[in-house]
Order: sequence, then C-alpha cells, then structure tokens
Amino acid sequence: MAKNKENNELMEKIVSLCKRRGFVFPSSEIYGGFSAIYDFGPYGVELSNNIKKEWWKAMVQIREDVVGLDSAIFMHPKIWEASGHVSGFSDPLAECKKCHSRVRVDHLLEEIGINADEKMGLEEINKIFEENKGKIKCPSCGKDEFTDVKKFNLLVKSNLGNFTEDWNKEPIYLRGETCQGIYVNFKNVLDSTRMKIPFGIAQIGKAFRNEITARQFIFRTREFEQMEMQYFTNPDEEMKEYEKLREYRWNFYLSLGIKEENLKWHKHENLVFYAKEAYDIEYNYPFGFSELEGVHARGDYDLTQHSKYSGKDLSYLDQSNNQKYMPHIIESSVGTARTFLAVLCDAYTEEKTGDDTRMVLKIDKKLAPVKIAIFPLLRNKPELVRKAKEVYDNLKSQFMCEFDDNGNIGKRYRRQDEIGTPYCLTVDFDSLEKGDVTIRNRDDMKQERIKIDNLMEYFKDNLS
Ligand code: GAP
Repeated sequence: MAKNKENNELMEKIVSLCKRRGFVFPSSEIYGGFSAIYDFGPYGVELSNNIKKEWWKAMVQIREDVVGLDSAIFMHPKIWEASGHVSGFSDPLAECKKCHSRVRVDHLLEEIGINADEKMGLEEINKIFEENKGKIKCPSCGKDEFTDVKKFNLLVKSNLGNFTEDWNKEPIYLRGETCQGIYVNFKNVLDSTRMKIPFGIAQIGKAFRNEITARQFIFRTREFEQMEMQYFTNPDEEMKEYEKLREYRWNFYLSLGIKEENLKWHKHENLVFYAKEAYDIEYNYPFGFSELEGVHARGDYDLTQHSKYSGKDLSYLDQSNNQKYMPHIIESSVGTARTFLAVLCDAYTEEKTGDDTRMVLKIDKKLAPVKIAIFPLLRNKPELVRKAKEVYDNLKSQFMCEFDDNGNIGKRYRRQDEIGTPYCLTVDFDSLEKGDVTIRNRDDMKQERIKIDNLMEYFKDNLS
C-alpha cells in the first residue's frame, strides 16, 4: 500500500515536471484539452528526437543488414484487410450503466487476476464478465453495472479522397501500426538496393488507434509514434535471428542508461495462430511492469497475406542456391513515448544536499535535451554577459546549449538539474582575466576550471 502511494506520487511528480518544464503538454489545452493526445514541448521534443536518433543509430546506421524507410500514413484500405486489422483489431468494450464511461473489459478482468487474451471470443468474455459481477467496479464512478461486452475496432477512419456523404462505408484508415508500410515495400526495397536475406527495414512514424481507455499519461494515447524494425529471414533461420534480436534490443535499453532491474521479459502464453514466439520487454513504470516493446517472431503471415490480397508474389529467390521461399519476419516494435516515459521515470532523482532536497534528472548524456547551460555570473555586468554569449555562440554549433542569466547561480543550477543538463558553465570575473570558466557536473555537482580555448575539446570528450 505504502509502495503504491509512493509510486502514484512519483507518477504525479513526473506529469507535473513534464508540464512545468515544457516536456509534455495536454493537447489543445486552451480549448479544454483533447482526450488521450499529448504535445511535446521544447525540452520534450529534444528528448524525443534524441531517443529516435539513438534508435536509428542502433537499428540502421551501425547495421549493414538494415535500411530505413518512411512510408505514408495513409495506405490502400485493402492493406488493413490483408493484415487482419479490419476484422480482428479490436478490444472488448462495455459501458458503465451509471456514468456511461467506456471501459476496457480485458483490463478490468486483469485487475481481478483473470487473463482475457486477444484470442478469447465475445461469448466467453461476456460469460466471465457476468460470473464476476460485483467484483468489477467502474474506474470512474465505482458502480458495478455494465452493458454487454462488445468488440470495438481500434482502426481510426478518415474520408481522405472520398467526397461522398457516406464515406464511412469505404473509409480510408489512418495506419494502426507502421510495419504494414514496411511489408508492402519489401519488394521495392529488395529491387532497389543490394539487400539480401537476412535483412531488415526500419521506420519511425506515427500510428493511430481508437484506444477505449487511455490513461497513464503518455503510456497509451490515440496518436503515438512507433519505432519498428522488421527483419526478413529464411524460415530455417528465424528463431536463431529472433534470439539475436532479443538480446540486441535488451542491450539497447541498457545503452540508454536504463537500470537493468527495471526491465524484464514477459513471454506471451497464448500466441496468435501465425506467431512462433512473442516476448515483450517490460519496464517498471510507477504503475507497475508494463509493455515497453514487443519482440515477436511472426512467421510468414505478413508477406503471405499481402501476396494473397495484392496478387503480387512477395516470395524471395535465394540466388546462391535457387531456393524460393516466403520470408519469415521477426519484429521489434516500440513506442517513442513509452521509451520517453521509461527514461524519465528511471532518471528522476531526489537527493539531499545539506538542508535542501534537489530534484535532478540523471538522464544519459546522449539523451539530455540540453547538453550545456551557459551562465554569466551576473546579468548586470555587460562584460560578463558579452563573454558568456561568445562562449555560447561558439559551442551552440556543436551542442544543444542554453544561455541563462536569470536569477542567482543556485537557482539556475536547479533549473538545469530538473531538465537533466549534464554541464553548467559559468563565466565570472576570473574568466575575463585568466580565460577560463567553471564547469559544474550535474551528477556529483563537482566543479572544475577549464580554459575557454579548450572547451570544444573538453565537451567533445565528455559528451560523445
Ligand atoms: N507492429 C506491432 C505492433 O504494433 P503493438 O504491441 O500493438 O504491436 C507495439 O505495439 C508498441 O507500440 C508497443 O510495445 C508500445 O510501445 C507502442 N504502443 C502501442 N499502442 C500504443 C498506444 N496506444 N500509445 C502509445 N504507445 C503504444
């Protein structure tokens, strides 16, 4: 119970930090907000871009066997039939008879220890829901009277390119996952590059889902960004490559500085019919261990389906032995915002400094929104401001820097600690005479003097 309270407080502190310091804003706030959608503010967009940069580096840049892609959000509607999303991409929904809140029945069942997985039919879920009547309460009003459970399709529809009144009959979907764009471009990539199986295609992009309940801040939203890599293998090699990918993805999170004890594997027990194996990497969010990333062995389902629905043969001919086969796919799929939230939760630290408590984001330097904050000791001394601006102008071409001359130095340090800036640099009167500055390290608060002429080299050594 005490741990729960502590965790709720941590979540509240993170949400409040995100708003106060410009990491994350509720969407359309001046219009009263827009449910389950968030905007990333000035520091948030830096952190998010740095996460994506690290992901791209790990998944594309340093790998000879992976290329990138940026496919469009809108695609031919048949793609979503082929993928199974039109018929099967749904969550069980019920409505509270008292307050009319819509609830996700599988989540409510999970809370009382019942695992209602994706494969469970509507009849079975309704039966279990009825049997447990009384135990399940509406999260909004606490009552226990619900309508029958229905399946609610999560695809978001649009009228793109359809100028008729009844566009809803033939909707164009906003993509529910980015990987379908990868599958349908498999042949294009193969024909236009020198890639040979095994190889992967990676992409980062927005996805949209009509999530029934979207709580837990940016963990589950209706518009979100995915970072996905689909790896095409020979059927005989699928599981060997899968094990390699699992290890690679686990190590990625360690490389971001996430504490290993806050990560764990969750094995899917009830696999969809085509899957060979499925694991999630879970992170220990304040609300408990929850899915951060999925690493799944999908067999030949995706390319077989798209071959069937498009009428184009997507099988692969291995020219070394004339073997023809439908490639098997292993995938790594993670939300940028879930990584963002995990990074913030992991880095959030409160520590005693004398009589004071300082809040510091001990975020990996690679991910820090601002790398160096530059201060003139006093804002009303033009010679200090001039020198500090000169240092700032020089460093900003290489590093994300921030100039701050507002308030006393202690307050400026606190502001930078809160957003995780690894280095603060102060220009004082000695700087004018001796040509050096004070650099203060975020984590141990130790200070050292470094010559202005050596600053570029110093930061290249310490920030690369
Ligand atoms: N292509 C596979 C796929 O989309 P998924 O488990 O539905 O699988 C993959 O989603 C990842 O995308 C999740 O592990 C999570 O990180 C992220 N994700 C899924 N739904 C999300 C949502 N509503 N809000 C934020 N992130 C989400």
